[in-house]
Amino acid sequence: MDKERTKQLIKDGEKSQAVRRKLIARTPKSAEIRFQGEQALGQEIVGTVSLPHPIYVDSAEGPCLTDVDGNEYIDLTGGFGPMVLGNKPSVVEEALHEQVRKGWHFGIPSAPQQHLANIVKEASPCADHVVFCNSGSEATMFAIRAARAFSGKQKVGLFDGSYHGAHDYALVKVDSKSDRSRPAATFLGAGVPSVVADDLTVTLPYRNETAFEIIREQKDELALVMIEPVQSSNPRLDSGEFLHGLKKVCEECNVLFMLDEVITGFRIEYGGCQSYYDIKPDLATYGKAVGGGLPIGAIAGREDIMNTFSGKDGAPYIFTGGTFSGNPLTMAAGVAATTYMRDHQAEIYPYLMKQGNRFATQVNDFCASLRIPARVMIAGSMFYMVFADGAVNSSRDITDAWKTVEQEFYLHLLGHDVMVPGIHIAFLSYAHRPEHVDAVIDAYRHSFEDLRSDGIV
Ligand SMILES: Cc1ncc(COP(=O)(O)O)c(C=O)c1O
Repeated sequence: MDKERTKQLIKDGEKSQAVRRKLIARTPKSAEIRFQGEQALGQEIVGTVSLPHPIYVDSAEGPCLTDVDGNEYIDLTGGFGPMVLGNKPSVVEEALHEQVRKGWHFGIPSAPQQHLANIVKEASPCADHVVFCNSGSEATMFAIRAARAFSGKQKVGLFDGSYHGAHDYALVKVDSKSDRSRPAATFLGAGVPSVVADDLTVTLPYRNETAFEIIREQKDELALVMIEPVQSSNPRLDSGEFLHGLKKVCEECNVLFMLDEVITGFRIEYGGCQSYYDIKPDLATYGKAVGGGLPIGAIAGREDIMNTFSGKDGAPYIFTGGTFSGNPLTMAAGVAATTYMRDHQAEIYPYLMKQGNRFATQVNDFCASLRIPARVMIAGSMFYMVFADGAVNSSRDITDAWKTVEQEFYLHLLGHDVMVPGIHIAFLSYAHRPEHVDAVIDAYRHSFEDLRSDGIV
């Protein structure tokens, strides 16, 4: 059957009928919740991570989720990244119980904030000081403000395929039709003032040394270059040379260099990608795992730059507020999770790396043997399955043509009791034991076989 016709049949729901019927039959309570929710909710979660079939989670334990209808799934969502230890690890649960007994919001600082700051400082090679906020988006927003104040310059460099959060300065993205080496800027979604792209951002090609030339050309205006050491849309661990080259150029040009470790911090290694690549930026941002599953963001960095947060030693003072910043519940969860990760790092991170690579190798071998144009891109325990015809260097190579097939794949995967939100990155955790990973590999295989028998690939 020709590709266009197949795409239309997928769109009309004519394909994958058996799995659609199965999922509808076993999720009546989820359907009812969805119906009720539609009366009031403007948006549940961001559309790009919505599920292939609506399911509402009732509880989560270890590597699994249970929905409101009592169906159990192996969870590869990982809470969108924070749950390195799996769902509801007992060390975090106990810390939360203890903190709830004492009270969960004071506004005034409490002791766990100092404790977590010390842990992050010890784990993060660049951290002389640490400041907490409530999300990764806040962390990158405050880091950009600190860099602008410190340098007296305005522009921020960011890369093709990057994601740094949901505030205006992070929503500049590369126009995929523009020159690969000198990409033009556009926005992710409407409502961002055009001045942000026109005057305040420099878009850079990813894993491409033309980026170095552009930084040299714009050095007098660039306050900061920020980069995810692993892009969530293109997870891989072979970018070390590019990152070191980038740091060198930033140093040479007197431009601040920031690693956005919101997703990689405490996940790739205990010391994040700074430790994996042995690289020390001027600033780093954190979120996700450092809060043990509660909302958090953190900025860490060199003392003179971090002084902008307090105005110490004559640094230009920046304002950063947040009613819940450093709240005791998040701090207690963060201390419990990171302490466990620190004390068991010799076991946790090699385990995650090994299971991740085993999963990717087996799925990729299977796809190659059946000539299915899909493969798993992986960085330790975070991965993204790519449907693509050719080589993938940047997320631009992942074309929209395959997106409908991708959605259909995740629908089948859900039917085989493995949960991955549509077209988004997936995670293994320390709670995924080898038998869970085996079950995930089997579910991937069966889902590919289903696609084939439905005539989709
Ligand atoms: C690298 C990176 N930076 C920033 C963010 C934004 O974090 P949050 O969703 O906590 O606002 C994310 C979220 O996925 C991220 O992956």
